[in-house]
Amino acid sequence: MKTFFMIKPDGVKRNLIGEIISRVEEKGFQITKIKMMTITKDLAEEHYSEHKDKPFFSDLVSFITSGPVIAMQVEGENVVSQIRTLMGATNPSDATPGSIRGDFATELDKNVVHGSDSDKSAARELNLFFS
Ligand code: RTP
Ligand code: MG
Repeated sequence: MKTFFMIKPDGVKRNLIGEIISRVEEKGFQITKIKMMTITKDLAEEHYSEHKDKPFFSDLVSFITSGPVIAMQVEGENVVSQIRTLMGATNPSDATPGSIRGDFATELDKNVVHGSDSDKSAARELNLFFS
């Protein structure tokens, strides 16, 4: 099984790349594709298209295009849901200590990482970023 996992611009700016990748690797997952890139506005709008009618959409697109990200394909058993568990709740205020967001973030709009939320999203997002 495969998922799309990304360190967002805030995580890269804060020099958390190694720490976050270590957690994924130490858990036992394989990183089978990885690249640093700056997301274009078009790609951001496509990636977050499920949120296009939400009031926070333009801020979300601005933020995710504000600096380089680390985009990854990660493989392993039940990797979609297990990566979401490693990430912690969307709002860092609700994220359990020990999770990435629980340990490294305080604000909803700067929550350090993205991971696909279903097998269908994983296939869609891997195709957007790696084909
Ligand atoms: P992501 O897609 O970034 O991995 O986060 P997620 O699945 O945990 O959360 P999702 O519902 O997909 O929301 C995407 C991102 O939008 C921001 N957000 N802001 N202001 C708000 O009410 C609000 N709600 C969500 C968050 O930064 C979230 O990561
Ligand atoms: Mg999401």
